[in-house]
Amino acid sequence: MALKITVIGTGYLGATHAAAMAELGFEVLGLDVVPEKIEMLKRGEVPMYEPGLEELLRKHVAGIEGSSGRLRFTMDWAEVGEFGDVHFVCVNTPQKHGEYACDMSYVDAAFESLAPHLHGPALVVGKSTVPVGSADRLAARLVELAPAGEDAELAWNPEFLREGFAVNDTLHPDRIVVGVRSERAEKLLREVYATPVTAGSPFVVTDFPTAELVKTSANSFLATKISFINAMAEVCEAADGDVVKLAEAIGHDERIGKKFLRAGIGFGGGCLPKDIRAFMARAGELGADQALTFLREIDSINMRQRGQMVELAREALGGGSFLGKRVAVLGAAFKPDSDDVRDSPALNVAGQIHLQGGQVTVYDPKGMANARRLFPTLAYADSAIEAVRGADVVLHLTEWREFRELDPAVLGEAVTTRLILDGRNALDPEVWRRAGWTYRAMGRPTA
Ligand code: UGA
Repeated sequence: MALKITVIGTGYLGATHAAAMAELGFEVLGLDVVPEKIEMLKRGEVPMYEPGLEELLRKHVAGIEGSSGRLRFTMDWAEVGEFGDVHFVCVNTPQKHGEYACDMSYVDAAFESLAPHLHGPALVVGKSTVPVGSADRLAARLVELAPAGEDAELAWNPEFLREGFAVNDTLHPDRIVVGVRSERAEKLLREVYATPVTAGSPFVVTDFPTAELVKTSANSFLATKISFINAMAEVCEAADGDVVKLAEAIGHDERIGKKFLRAGIGFGGGCLPKDIRAFMARAGELGADQALTFLREIDSINMRQRGQMVELAREALGGGSFLGKRVAVLGAAFKPDSDDVRDSPALNVAGQIHLQGGQVTVYDPKGMANARRLFPTLAYADSAIEAVRGADVVLHLTEWREFRELDPAVLGEAVTTRLILDGRNALDPEVWRRAGWTYRAMGRPTA
């Protein structure tokens, strides 16, 4: 009989994982502790913007016309405990207030709530990003709390999906990593992932600590790559070099690779910034803090980019104060194809200029509602053209396709001054300059 799967926590990770498991043919039951989320999901609606996710959900949510009916949602832990052979824990692990370490309270609460309902053999699979050593601790807690005792087993299976590509990354992962302690656990997970493994996804079996570390080290490497190229942008700026050409040229070396070398205002979002901090904190606890002191530098290079963007804008406006200056900001989300504004570099820059007296107007194709909630004092416009009307400077801070397709001649008619600063190195300087704009970006030659 086909395995029955539950998914605990229905954020980006959980909602996508639940829909993907239904797509792979399993009966799936999703649980969340937030009633509004469950109500939305039951109607086949997704609480965030993620391309393709709503379609996939509607294809499987029970009660929706024409759906497979394989995907249901509940708030009832007993129902989840009884239903599942495999339980995926997908709750989030944000940064703790005032500390670098990550907040494990949602993970801990999920285990405390689920375990007492495990009466028979069950595999609980952690997917959340956690400090190394957590799986070991949670495995013991599980056996202690579950009526099934040793038959309630743990595995760790980190997730590498990117927002904006979540559906594809989940259905066609570039690798599947499982930390297991028994053949039974490995066998069950091979069954869960049989389709992607047959299609070619590598299946890597490890112990618990390695599985946990694969996730944090992958995100640390990505963060390092971005801060490396941003450091090169700073040097290019000082030496009149061109960081975009430099990235292209070093990227031809296969050992370096082209990806994740886009210089700009740096990384944000709900993962990279908090993951490198939690990793440093955990290494400190383990007495290996020296090994990760370089991540402190990666973090500070990254945060510096935001301040430098503000200074670039000040300089472009003639130096001095932002008072009375109209500043248009294109982009609010931490990256394109997402409405996520958590630790968004774009909003950080917009907020800093606003606090210094600039009249900032923001437009983002999908992130407006979330941006308004986080920064209610900024002004917002309903389109790019409305945002730039009367602007003394335009800041391009999230590289949506919509912004690359803007016509600089049309925008030029709306602004007071044709001055554009590209914080993402994604616009074509020549196109803008030909239309009479002054184009500036960090680490790029001026015309
Ligand atoms: C990241 C990882 O890429 C995923 O593999 C991982 O699963 C996920 O975190 C997670 O831990 O859950 P995500 O947060 O969706 O995914 O965002 P990325 O695509 O990694 O982008 C992060 C930030 O880096 C964005 O602000 C982006 O604008 C910036 N970035 C990216 C650059 O500034 N330059 C680049 O070249 C690439």
